[in-house]
Amino acid sequence: MRNGRDAGLDSLLAAWDGETVIVHADRPACAWIVIAIHSSRLGPATGGTRMQAYPDLTLTVTDALRLAEGMTLKYAVAGFPRGGGKAVIATGAPLDPAARTGLLRRYGALLQSLHGLFATGPDVGTNAEDMDVIAETGAPYVFSRTPARGGAGGSGPATALGVLAGIEATCRWLFGTTALGGRHVVVQGAGHAGAPLIDLLVAAGATVSVSDVDPDRTRRFRDQRALRIVPPDEVYDTPCDIFAPCAMGGVLDAHTIPRLRARAVVGAANNQLATMEDAERLRGRDILYAPDYAVNIGGAMAITGIEAMGWSAEQAAAEVRKVGATLTRIYELAAATGGTTEAAARRIAAERLAGA
Ligand code: PHE
Repeated sequence: MRNGRDAGLDSLLAAWDGETVIVHADRPACAWIVIAIHSSRLGPATGGTRMQAYPDLTLTVTDALRLAEGMTLKYAVAGFPRGGGKAVIATGAPLDPAARTGLLRRYGALLQSLHGLFATGPDVGTNAEDMDVIAETGAPYVFSRTPARGGAGGSGPATALGVLAGIEATCRWLFGTTALGGRHVVVQGAGHAGAPLIDLLVAAGATVSVSDVDPDRTRRFRDQRALRIVPPDEVYDTPCDIFAPCAMGGVLDAHTIPRLRARAVVGAANNQLATMEDAERLRGRDILYAPDYAVNIGGAMAITGIEAMGWSAEQAAAEVRKVGATLTRIYELAAATGGTTEAAARRIAAERLAGA
């Protein structure tokens, strides 16, 4: 299921073990809207809406299927009562603000027509302001609106808090202490989750290096915090304790893993492994891999908990911090069975899904 690149749509869908895929053509904006429902076993399918350009529809669907599966794994590993789904909006030509708003409103109407089959929040290419627009037509199936519109705001800060807890648990596993003083973390991507993570790491005393393809995003960290900025092409070669991918997926592959000079990979990006073999590749290099979906649930969990389950902000933070305990369990299981951490996490998820 992971390398759908050359597969046609039919074989792609035939090989997928999810429930439903909706492909909607938005003619006014020349965009495809793909909603993938992977599993509603543990609860209503919930996941972010990703909005970006894709080369073709097959790659759009491929991404949606993988991201939806990631959401199922995310909720299952954490034992959170939601199912896995994801929406991907593949835009054609760049949209002006009015065209973008129109597209988001029509997308909200599509969500509404599904009557809760899928609920959404922000992801790469969308933010809390976009959720406000989608909610105009799509409420109540839209999480993470701005506080001004009654929502809990963007999901990045809570995601970052979970990643921090994951990094601390990883440091305890590797070095015997959660203390981050003197530890070097390389953060790839200073966006929704990466930027707040950098702030949390600095506050915890870590040495942080930052990389982003967009210099506007790294400037603040260089000028105000005097952090080292690593050019995007050098990010894999930089010696560090923790490499934290917080940008796009597929960054851990046959080309990058041999270059890594990190003791562990713990980051917020979805689908960090290009293929399943890359989990073995990391283990072969003795680099501890924190399965992405175990680490990056913080945003989805906190926002859904606050908006749909009545959690207070404090309660949400306490729940998100449990990412650390979940990761430790995964490391223990992997050590006990001799398999990869990815296999251990999938096993925990499969048991939860089977028990539902
Ligand atoms: N982008 C989030 C994720 O990948 C999805 C999300 C955010 C879902 C907020 C619900 C609420 O986990």
